[in-house]
Amino acid sequence: MNIKIDGIRVDIPEGFTLLEAAKFLGIEIPTLCWHEGLSAWGGCRLCVVEIGEGERKKMVTSCTYPVEEGIVVHTASEKVVKSRKMILELLIAQCPTSRTLQDLASKMGVIQVRFDPKWENCIYCGLCVRICNEQMMARAIGFVNRGNKLEISTPFDKNSEDCRKCGGCIYICPACTLRCQGINQDNVLCNACYNSLQPTCISNEDNYNCWMGLKNECGTCSKEESKNI
Ligand code: SF4
Ligand code: SF4
Ligand code: FES
Repeated sequence: MNIKIDGIRVDIPEGFTLLEAAKFLGIEIPTLCWHEGLSAWGGCRLCVVEIGEGERKKMVTSCTYPVEEGIVVHTASEKVVKSRKMILELLIAQCPTSRTLQDLASKMGVIQVRFDPKWENCIYCGLCVRICNEQMMARAIGFVNRGNKLEISTPFDKNSEDCRKCGGCIYICPACTLRCQGINQDNVLCNACYNSLQPTCISNEDNYNCWMGLKNECGTCSKEESKNI
């Protein structure tokens, strides 16, 4: 497939996504719900790009959109950059404590969050569900309910017998692996770790969404942490 991406013409094998094509060219597109080795889901929309030209341009998620013969792709147009920043603002408002999101904000130049913080512990990226289903073959957790009642849980909210206590869901979760310590009620943007040689936050896993039962029940938490339980 011959495609044009940010003005560069390149041949990309059929079946590749626009994100993979961009990666092949060394063009960086921010991602959040995408992870190598897991199926693409297209949930967070952080990886949006514009395709087409003139009046017929439209936004698509690059992690799910397949390359097409002759397609023209803009990965960093003004509209794309603005959209990504707004999406990230919404995600940070949802879960300000996520260091992954805070680092992305620093990297992408997000300097404000115009939405009221919700202080949730999940951004519904679905990574935990996919790693559990696709890599651990456990299917121990999944999405339940819809709309503002949406959550990730085990069947009937009980400790799942299918859980292998592998810790994959915790490892991959952008909301619970590292907690940002530099925010407060008045300012939900931190901008410290990514911009500083000495990160202010170290691994802090208290109060995370652990699907494995009580904290350290499975032995995945660090020994240092477990002393304080
Ligand atoms: S710890 Fe349990 S719920 Fe989490 S990925 Fe592993 S099997 Fe799935
Ligand atoms: S618990 Fe974490 S990995 Fe799972 S959907 Fe929420 S933010 Fe994503
Ligand atoms: S990374 Fe593509 S939609 Fe989330």
